[in-house]
Amino acid sequence: MFRAKFREDRSPTLIGRRVVLRPLGETDFPQWCEVRSRCRDWLGRWEPLPAPYAGDINVDPVAFALRCRQRAQEVTSGTGVGFGVFVDGYFRGEVNLNLIHRGPFQSAYLGYWIDESVAGLGLIPEAVALVLQYAFEQLALHRVQISIIPRNAASIRVVQKLGLRSEGVALRYLEINGVWEDHERFAITAEEWMERGEWLVTTFCH
Ligand SMILES: CC(C)(COP(=O)(O)OP(=O)(O)OC[C@H]1O[C@@H](n2cnc3c(N)ncnc32)[C@H](O)[C@@H]1OP(=O)(O)O)[C@@H](O)C(=O)NCCC(=O)NCCS
Repeated sequence: MFRAKFREDRSPTLIGRRVVLRPLGETDFPQWCEVRSRCRDWLGRWEPLPAPYAGDINVDPVAFALRCRQRAQEVTSGTGVGFGVFVDGYFRGEVNLNLIHRGPFQSAYLGYWIDESVAGLGLIPEAVALVLQYAFEQLALHRVQISIIPRNAASIRVVQKLGLRSEGVALRYLEINGVWEDHERFAITAEEWMERGEWLVTTFCH
């Protein structure tokens, strides 16, 4: 039987071969703004539109600070954990565990993005393997899902490299860039992590 320790950690830091993951704070805004502004077109195709009347988190320090506080609140309440991806001390992207459900589901949804200037270096597979380890071995979750628009070939490659299982395509699943897009749902459960987790961490993280 899979056994995992649940350890409450308000500011988790995960360290891989090249990436360091930690929650973002207000002082990260200058780097956040630089990366998000430079990569606006590259990222916008794959992201929801900003909420109407909300400040633009990409360029508005007040809106970004609010997002950081909301993310910190999620950690406290156990409903989510957001990680900034840092490489050589520079902010380069995010891997987020969203909508953590407890009870009989024990599940989370994982999302990610990387700075276009460092795409293709395998940084997100490394970061995702670290977050999966955290999800199963620290948070004691049973299931993590990643949802991907089928034409997003780069993102499909990430889950292929990690060997996540496809659960098929959900029609009109998420509203991305203003369009209700089909998504292929990929998942991994704690039982699969027990079988393959050590290999994933050894291969991608150390
Ligand atoms: C999807 C994404 C997170 C992958 O991160 P990454 O760290 O580049 O991942 P990898 O290095 O493993 O590259 C994955 C694939 O991207 C493609 N790729 C490689 N270099 C690339 C580049 N410079 N630009 C675009 N795509 C590239 C390749 O197909 C690669 O697969 P390969 O290694 O088998 O050749 C990144 O492309 C991204 O942030 N895209 C925009 C936002 C997005 O799609 N988020 C995910 C939504 S589900």
